[in-house]
Amino acid sequence: MNLPEKVEIIEVGPRDGIQNEANFIPTEKKIELINALNKTGIKRMEATSFVHPKYVPQMRDAKEVLDGIEQNPSIQYMALIPNEKGYERALESGIKALSLVVGASDSFNLKNVKMTREQSMESFEAVIEKAKANDILIRYNIATSFWCPFDGIVDSKLVLSMVERMEQLGVDEIVLCDTIGRANPKQVLNLFKEAVSLKSEAMITAHFHDTYGMAMSNVMAALQAGVTRFDASIGGLGGCPFAPGAAGNAATEDIIFMMHEMGIDTGIDMDQLLACIEIVKPFTNRNLTGHLHKVKTSKSY
Ligand code: COA
Ligand code: ZN
Repeated sequence: MNLPEKVEIIEVGPRDGIQNEANFIPTEKKIELINALNKTGIKRMEATSFVHPKYVPQMRDAKEVLDGIEQNPSIQYMALIPNEKGYERALESGIKALSLVVGASDSFNLKNVKMTREQSMESFEAVIEKAKANDILIRYNIATSFWCPFDGIVDSKLVLSMVERMEQLGVDEIVLCDTIGRANPKQVLNLFKEAVSLKSEAMITAHFHDTYGMAMSNVMAALQAGVTRFDASIGGLGGCPFAPGAAGNAATEDIIFMMHEMGIDTGIDMDQLLACIEIVKPFTNRNLTGHLHKVKTSKSY
């Protein structure tokens, strides 16, 4: 088995993790969570999103969260934006890294941001130009890279053509997302192998959900394709409000446990990470799907 010595975990819990929680999590708890994540060794995280509060009320306190956290200069905080208005709001907040999102599937993109894929990509071209002029790092997420909740399987050639187009715009990172958690390891291996073989200057990151229990297998498959960056969410929290039936993200603690057991460094401290889960757990109204925080034997990692 070909394994890297080190991988990078990007924590998306404060954004993807909690955006779909029915009850509003108090702003001070979100701030406490991010401040606790600061102590784990995580170097990059999606902290919030500048989306319409009517559609995603949980994220309505984006600016207050960013203003309230202790920003560690060695940690990169990112905010997701769906459109140009999101960019303007993000710029005002002073954040230096943005996570753009477009769905490979038109049906999904129309539900998610009320634009076709092409409309989103075109309007983001201007956003990227402005962001670069402001020294803002751009991470570009391709949602529904494998499956669409409405149209089924997504053509990998379409996704690869989007990767090439994003690469030409000079983005810093491209994330292939299995938004509904429906991909299988063979599909993941094939798409990531092709994406990695494009030798893009941009970092290529994998983002999995665990709807069908395949998130960890898909992490392994992406690892085999040469991917060394993974999005993850503490406790396995997560889900997209516009992807019906989608379960949470791959759990950060489970990925880290698996990596550490295989001798792969993540730079993340498990005890500190598990403490973060305890901060949000009382505010969620579902059972967390991550495994490690439920393991009762002492020091099982
Ligand atoms: N944040 C806050 N307000 C926004 C906004 C944003 N990013 N984008 C648009 N608006 C406001 C406009 O200013 C306008 O306000 P007004 O009525 O006071 O003039 C109003 O919303 C309508 O603008 P429009 O561009 O027509 O937006 P829309 O109704 O088509 O909604 C999105 C588009 C993208 C804002 C909305 O679909 C959305 O927030 N989606 C959330 C996607 C998401 O978070 N998905 C999960 C993560 S992938
Ligand atoms: Zn996601």
